[in-house]
Amino acid sequence: MIMRKKIVAGNWKMNLNLQEGKDLVEGILKWLPTLDNQHRVVIAPPYLHLSQTVAQIEGKAFVYAAAQNCHTETSGAYTGEVSASMLQHTGVSYVILGHSERRQYFGETNAFLAQKVDRALQSQLEVIFCCGEPLEIRDAGKENEYVAEQIKASLFHLNVTEFQRITIAYEPIWAIGTGRTASAQQAQDMHMHIRNVVASKYGNEVADALTILYGGSCNAGNAAELFACKDVDGGLIGGASLKADSFLAIIQAMTEA
Ligand code: PGA
Repeated sequence: MIMRKKIVAGNWKMNLNLQEGKDLVEGILKWLPTLDNQHRVVIAPPYLHLSQTVAQIEGKAFVYAAAQNCHTETSGAYTGEVSASMLQHTGVSYVILGHSERRQYFGETNAFLAQKVDRALQSQLEVIFCCGEPLEIRDAGKENEYVAEQIKASLFHLNVTEFQRITIAYEPIWAIGTGRTASAQQAQDMHMHIRNVVASKYGNEVADALTILYGGSCNAGNAAELFACKDVDGGLIGGASLKADSFLAIIQAMTEA
């Protein structure tokens, strides 16, 4: 039986220059609590930082580097893009795909994301797949169908072995960077729903082993309450991952949950 992992992942988005990134990783590593295979930390800086981050975390068990995106193709005339294979050869372990900002500002669709997922898995990357509804969908009470469709359309073509390399991050768009966190109950309800959707396709054992992260204004003050929920297995952290002390407090909450 595969045990469910807990993960805290820091998504820096388009923040920090190289020196600031180096200092932040140094600060995180200095006070990192003891981790194990079931309690992991993932750092997702901008592409430019990745070689540096990979070098800094070398030898640090259960700390991994992630990219925030990758392209659908392996190489070619795609000016400005970075492939999953390049990430793999840089020592990157994870890639975040389907973040709402990619969907919103760069027009990434569920079908396009399905291609990215395939390419990332072919390059042996683990995928943190983001889903989550906008406010008008939540207000209309249609969030369960909306999120289920995102997951089905981008992931349900995978076989079981492939699917086991997916982590899902539920990030309600209305909670991202707004300071408005989903309540622990709202997070738990959606995470349980996601697990049921996955169980309907891949069975209970696979669904039970799936790591489902919460993202959206998760911080040092609310992480413990969110992570105490049965189906919340850690967090994808934006703003609060940009300071070592707040990120470390969230990691601590994960190790204690
Ligand atoms: P936030 O971002 O923690 O700043 O709300 C989360 C995310 O977008 O991954």
